Amino acid sequence: MIRPMATNPIPQFPAGFLWGVSTSAHQIEGAADEREPSVWDAFTAEPGRVRDGSTAAVACDHYHRHREDVALLAGLGVDAYRFSVSWPRVNSPGGLDFYDRLVDDLCAAGVRPVPTLFHWDLPAGLDWLERDTAARFAEYVSVVAGRLGDRAEKWITLNEPAEHTLLGHALGVHAPGRRLLFDALPAAHHQLLAHGLAVRALRAAGAADIGIANSHGPTWPASGERADVEAADLYDVLLNRMFAEPVLLGGYPEIIGDLLSGGGTDVGADLRVIAEPVDFYGVNYYAPTRVGAPRGTEIEFGGVTLPAELPFSVREIEGRPRTDFGWPVVPEGLTELLTGLRDRYGDRLPPVVITENGCSYEGLDDQDRITYLDGHVRALHRAIEGGVDVRGYFVWSLLDNFEWAEGYARRFGLVHVDYGTLARTPKASYTWFRDVLREQRRRN
Ligand code: NOJ
Repeated sequence: MIRPMATNPIPQFPAGFLWGVSTSAHQIEGAADEREPSVWDAFTAEPGRVRDGSTAAVACDHYHRHREDVALLAGLGVDAYRFSVSWPRVNSPGGLDFYDRLVDDLCAAGVRPVPTLFHWDLPAGLDWLERDTAARFAEYVSVVAGRLGDRAEKWITLNEPAEHTLLGHALGVHAPGRRLLFDALPAAHHQLLAHGLAVRALRAAGAADIGIANSHGPTWPASGERADVEAADLYDVLLNRMFAEPVLLGGYPEIIGDLLSGGGTDVGADLRVIAEPVDFYGVNYYAPTRVGAPRGTEIEFGGVTLPAELPFSVREIEGRPRTDFGWPVVPEGLTELLTGLRDRYGDRLPPVVITENGCSYEGLDDQDRITYLDGHVRALHRAIEGGVDVRGYFVWSLLDNFEWAEGYARRFGLVHVDYGTLARTPKASYTWFRDVLREQRRRN
C-alpha cells in the first residue's frame, strides 16, 4: 500500500496558510421540512432529475448533528471550515439561530468559520433571470452579516456561478432545470450583480475579508487546428473568464458583453458594482477540460449530456487515472491554472484561496483519494514556489453528501456517511489529512 506521507513528506507551506474543508447547506443539512423550500426541492421532486431518484430531504442530517460534525472538524485539526448558509433556512423561523450556534460551536472548537452565502439553493419563487433577485440577495446578506459578522473569518458571496448558470440555466441538468443555452446569460449577470451588491452589504456590516468562489480549470484544445483552438477559447471564456473578469477587471470578455447587450441586458453601470474590490479570490479546481470543435452530436461528459448545438465539444483526456465520477486526475493542472491566472491578471488578482479541491471514490480505505489530494497539495506548493500568492486550501468535502444530479452515488467525503444510519466514519484520507496538518504545524 502506498502511503505518500510516510515516504515523501509534503513540502512546508507558509506560516499562516489556512487549511480547511468545505461543505454546502443543501448537500448536507437535510431538515428540509424545517425550512422554506428551495429551487432544488422542486427540481429533485421531478422524476428523472436525480440519477438515483434521491432528494436532499435528509442528506447527512447535519442540521440535527452539527455538533458531531464540528467534533470531526476539531479532530481533523483544520484551521477553518467553509460551509454555506441556506437562504431559504434564513427565511424560516429559527434558521439564523442554527448558523449562530454552528458558528459558536466552531469558534469554541478552534475552527474558523468561512460562510458562503449562496451555494445554489435559491428560495423557491426567486429566479436569477430576474434582476431584482440581486437586490433581494443583498438584503439577505445584510441580515446574515449582522448576525455572524463578529465571528466569521472570511466571507464568500457566491459558489461557482459558472456551474450554476451552465448546469442550472443553460443545460437544465441542475435546478432550476432550464435549457436556455446562451439565453441563460442574464442569470449569470444577475448573480454577478448580486455578488457586487453583497460585497457592499458585507463591507457596510464591517466585514474585512471577502471573496467569491469561482470554478476554474485549464482548457486544452483538442489539436492545433484552428477550429479546435477557437472552440477551446470559447469554452475558456465561459468557464474561466466570464465570471473572473467582471469581478477582477470590471469588464466582460467581448463576446459575452456583446451577447448580453444584444439580448437587451444593459450591463454598463452594473460593472462598477460587480468590480467592488475583493480581498481574496476563491478557486474551485477539479480537473482540466479538453475541448474541440463541435461534432454535431450529443456528448456525455462527467454525467452531463451536452446538446449537439453547442459551439464546442468536450473530449476525453487520455492516459490519466479517473475518479469514480470519471473525471481525469491531473494534479499539475492546478499549478498550470494558478500560474495562468497570475499571468493573465497580474496584480489585479488578489491573494488566492483554493476553496474546493477533491474527488469521488468509494470505500473507507480510500488510497486513491489520498493520492489525488497528495498530488494536488504538492501542485499547489509548486504554484506558490512559482510566485502565486495562495493563502489557503479547502478539501471538498468533509462528509460524503448529496452530489446534486448524481444523488448519493458520488462520495467526496473524508468522512463516510452511512445513509441508512447516518453514522459517520472517518476514512483513511481523513487520517492522512490530519497527519499532514499536524506535520505542517510541527514544522512551522
Ligand atoms: C463543486 C460544487 O461547488 C460542489 O457543490 C460539488 O459537490 C463539487 N463541485 C463536486 O462536484
